[in-house]
Amino acid sequence: MIPVQIVGVSGSLRAKSYNRALLVAAQELLPPDVSMEIAELHGIPPYNMDLEDPAPPAVLSFKGQIRKADAVLFAVPEYNYSVAGILKNAIDWASRPYQDNVWAGKPVAMVSASIGMLGGARAQYDLRRSFVFLDMHPINRPEVFVSFAPTKFDEQLRLKDEPTRKVLRQLLSALVDLTRRLRPPAPK
Ligand code: FNR
Repeated sequence: MIPVQIVGVSGSLRAKSYNRALLVAAQELLPPDVSMEIAELHGIPPYNMDLEDPAPPAVLSFKGQIRKADAVLFAVPEYNYSVAGILKNAIDWASRPYQDNVWAGKPVAMVSASIGMLGGARAQYDLRRSFVFLDMHPINRPEVFVSFAPTKFDEQLRLKDEPTRKVLRQLLSALVDLTRRLRPPAPK
């Protein structure tokens, strides 16, 4: 199998984040020949066009992680019915300057966890709109919305809910399949 490298990006900075915990769960559920690292957003400053050239080191390092990945998995916290600003800010940075948008052409999937009953769906649909301008290739199905998050994780933040583990595995499989389909064949 062609190896696939995924980068996971969570929009929550807090230590006990359910969204980040979903990425950790994903690392346990990967198909064969697939690896996934989690990019951290802690050092990324608020976006400012005046700082684009040269970009801050944390931004350059984040862009490097995205650039070398074959596919992206976003964990999308929903804040006030939309994408958490931390995540949108990191996405904006890595899309600039315009001719160096590192998201372009990458297959992408999303997960979200929320304490509410819609599981972050509204934030995912907002982010899906950004994929158009970012020129990414989103997975349509399955959709993974983890509602009532405190009931789905144990004390150590391990995803314990079997139906959620199953749908997350299916999402990863869809992301890897699309990544392999989009990749140009290796030269003979
Ligand atoms: C929230 N939360 C939330 N949940 C939701 O389902 N819809 C929403 O619009 C909001 N809005 C919102 C705004 C702000 C500022 C905060 C801090 C929280 C609750 C949110 O789902 C919950 O805090 C999650 O646990 C956040 O994700 P992490 O940090 O656990 O990954």
